[in-house]
Amino acid sequence: MFTPEMMESVKKVEATRDERMGMEPRRMTAEEKDELLKAYHPDYRQEAFDEIKIGPNKGQKAPKELVHLIHSNSRLLKDKIDLNKVDYDVDVLVIGGGGAGSSAAIEAHEAGANVMIVTKLRIGDANTMMAEGGIQAADKENDSPVQHYLDAFGGGHFAARPELLRRLVMEAPDAIKWLNDLGVMFDKDAEGNMITTHGGGTSRKRMHACKDYSGAEIMRTLRDEVINRKIPVVEFTSAVELIKDENGHAAGAVLLNMETGDYLVAKAKTVVIATGGAGRMHYQGFPTSNHYGATADGLILGYRAGAPLLYQDTIQYHPTGVAFPSQIFGALVTEKVRSLGAMLVNVEGEAFMHPLETRDVAAASIIRECSDRGKGVTTPLGSGVWLDTPMIERIGGEGTIEKRIPAMLRMYMNYGIDMRKLPILVYPTLHYQNGGLEIGGDGFTKVIDNLLVAGEAVGGIHGRNRLMGNSLLDIIVFGRNAGKAAAAKAKDIQIGNLSLKHVEEYADELKSAGIESDDVSPLLLPKYARHERKEN
Ligand code: FUM
Repeated sequence: MFTPEMMESVKKVEATRDERMGMEPRRMTAEEKDELLKAYHPDYRQEAFDEIKIGPNKGQKAPKELVHLIHSNSRLLKDKIDLNKVDYDVDVLVIGGGGAGSSAAIEAHEAGANVMIVTKLRIGDANTMMAEGGIQAADKENDSPVQHYLDAFGGGHFAARPELLRRLVMEAPDAIKWLNDLGVMFDKDAEGNMITTHGGGTSRKRMHACKDYSGAEIMRTLRDEVINRKIPVVEFTSAVELIKDENGHAAGAVLLNMETGDYLVAKAKTVVIATGGAGRMHYQGFPTSNHYGATADGLILGYRAGAPLLYQDTIQYHPTGVAFPSQIFGALVTEKVRSLGAMLVNVEGEAFMHPLETRDVAAASIIRECSDRGKGVTTPLGSGVWLDTPMIERIGGEGTIEKRIPAMLRMYMNYGIDMRKLPILVYPTLHYQNGGLEIGGDGFTKVIDNLLVAGEAVGGIHGRNRLMGNSLLDIIVFGRNAGKAAAAKAKDIQIGNLSLKHVEEYADELKSAGIESDDVSPLLLPKYARHERKEN
């Protein structure tokens, strides 16, 4: 329960509620947003970034923690692998068992390819599972993919790669249909029409949801489909290095059995990296809404093999992570809470911003409120602002919270906080990597043949900030496309002799740049993971 000091502030929130019910806070101008972002968004803290010293993005900046991994060593410098002993030989190797990887595998299988998923935890242990608020698609009469494009392009600071964003919005309605046909239980009205809501930065209500566990419901369905199709899934096994063939084309991956420590060789005609995000890197010390395995592995695999990164210097901090209670610090409080009417309010009970500004703006605004303006509410782990959830019941009627965001209600009830009656405390949490490996509109990396990337490991779909609901969408759109493209390409491929020459060349480059490190990458598990088996 809240401390006496917090309860004092709750009284102020309650005192201003009636007045706030009738008002809509002003939206910021473009100039105000720019100024706010530069002063308060974590992407602008120069001291949190380092220069990349080698590889295709040499000279560019990235979060210090990511640069550290880029400058670390391959496990295979010490542990030698016999590439002649092939453990798996497939058409399409999908690395990652989340929404993008599963979608890719389903479509590759549908196209007749011999496809295998390898995943370092279990299938479905992924950020997809953690996604709450919904998935965007312009499939209502008052909407269009063009409108969706404009919202996302503006929200991403006009930096999205047009060929990627175009694909995202044009194929969104079909993605919803595909999921619905597979069995995803979307929220529907009595006539069977999809219920849609706004998200931050959307000009139309196009957020399709499964209450507030949209990602879990989508992942449940995709996982069932993978299992029903009997697609092989190798669990608790990480890809630690890509394998190329003598022509420099992607040709598989070296895998590490996380339980036994044994290495395995997977040979493949095409490879899809679908390893997800990086929240467990805890950039700048932020807590995260991400799943346990989100450690940027795919970025390292691809980069060491020579694939460039795009927008690796931009990270999404979801404005509303849990600030209190401490046991769930950093967990996601879905944006849907604000879509349903909850306002962001400071310690004095003042609404200090429009609740549906885009995420980077909302996060920066909360950080300003809690820092320079001194209007945050003190918590055991820092500070936060109020999200005035009782407003939802006032706007939507009694029972709205239970009906539309039941998981959120339950999460807080576990700690004695009834969000129908009391506001909740929030602060930004590390949620999404806007950047990742660069791909073309066809899903292939531009420099390594037969290598595709899908999902959060891709950079450029959303530009420098992503709107809510466009990530669940991109894993489906780009996952499906990657699976189809990988299967089609696999038909024409003759793999040459397998090689890890690029790993040795990368080590030479590190040496030439004067970089010495005792650490290995990809990281695979967060720094605080328990290692019962001694790492090499
Ligand atoms: O707020 C949310 O429910 C998160 C959604 C997203 O990142 O797309």
